[in-house]
Amino acid sequence: MNAPTQPAIETLPASVYRDPALWPQERTRIFAASWQFVTHDSALAQAGDWVAEAVAGYPVVVVRGEDGAIRAFHNVCRHRAGPLTQGDSGHCEGVLTCRYHGWTYTLDGRLRAARDFGPSPDFDPRAFGLYPVRVELWRGLVFVALDSAIAPLAEWLAPLERRLGSADWSGLHIAGKRQHLIACNWKTYVENYLEGYHVPLIHPTLDAEIDSARYSVTMEGRIALHEAPLRKPDAVYEGLWAWLWPNIGVNIYGRGLMMERMSPIGPSQTGGPGQTRLDYIYLMPEGETVSEETMAMSDVVVAEDLWVVERVQQNLDADVYTTGRLSSRHEGGVAAFQAFYREAMGGLAG
Ligand code: FES
Ligand SMILES: [Fe+2]
Repeated sequence: MNAPTQPAIETLPASVYRDPALWPQERTRIFAASWQFVTHDSALAQAGDWVAEAVAGYPVVVVRGEDGAIRAFHNVCRHRAGPLTQGDSGHCEGVLTCRYHGWTYTLDGRLRAARDFGPSPDFDPRAFGLYPVRVELWRGLVFVALDSAIAPLAEWLAPLERRLGSADWSGLHIAGKRQHLIACNWKTYVENYLEGYHVPLIHPTLDAEIDSARYSVTMEGRIALHEAPLRKPDAVYEGLWAWLWPNIGVNIYGRGLMMERMSPIGPSQTGGPGQTRLDYIYLMPEGETVSEETMAMSDVVVAEDLWVVERVQQNLDADVYTTGRLSSRHEGGVAAFQAFYREAMGGLAG
């Protein structure tokens, strides 16, 4: 009996990967409307510990309060929009102090003092607290959502939680970080992450570790679960990777994991397709470091991906290719991403 035939799915048009006019909508409709990974709770061990991050151009600060609760705020002072922090992370004693003119905020976001402000009878400091941002934790991972109305994080991550079962992620700490800047639109990189079709050609070292002919990508909700049988017992990888819409990779290693954030650097200042910043955060059990072999493998794989996605972006920019077709065997994850993208953009794109 012949297998049923369906037309191959058409890709998004090339223009979607290079049109800077799409970025403002992507920012609000996609990034502000999804859970965004920021850090691990081990980076916020003490009251006053904070981590600052820009999520799709929205500066956010996450801080542990005196009551032990982790809260998040827009990192935007209510005076004249100054930054409350300097650097990526740090510790403050009881208040966040704006770096511009020194207004201070309690760790639950209330304005405590407007430094040397002078008489101003109409000014009510209670009306000038920090703008809160929703924050939730899952297995020690700290996520924020700029749209406070979205479904709880646990609901988003339920398919991954089911797949992980009793895997113990307690007692992890941040054992290393890497950052890579890539000259491609964020979607070009995400789509590359979402298929194993390219593994035999682009990643010979990875291909020696996993059976890429049996690499599978299964969509469950907004999560893509990637699995591949290992070819050898001492492989660096566990053979399990997950991707969370729209831009987070969860890469499981034998002794820990690596969180991968694929951040768009918007094109607004630069024109063109924008760039993508990869943040790799390696989490290992307390007292353990990331093995040299794991770091070396990770560096090789990212260099290989970087080489190909930058060339794909150049070709998309060249305005020769318009649309292609997706493999029904290997590119179900890419097809799902493109369907989510079309839905989120309300038909704006292709
Ligand atoms: S902008 Fe924050 S104190 Fe002026
Ligand atoms: Fe790759």
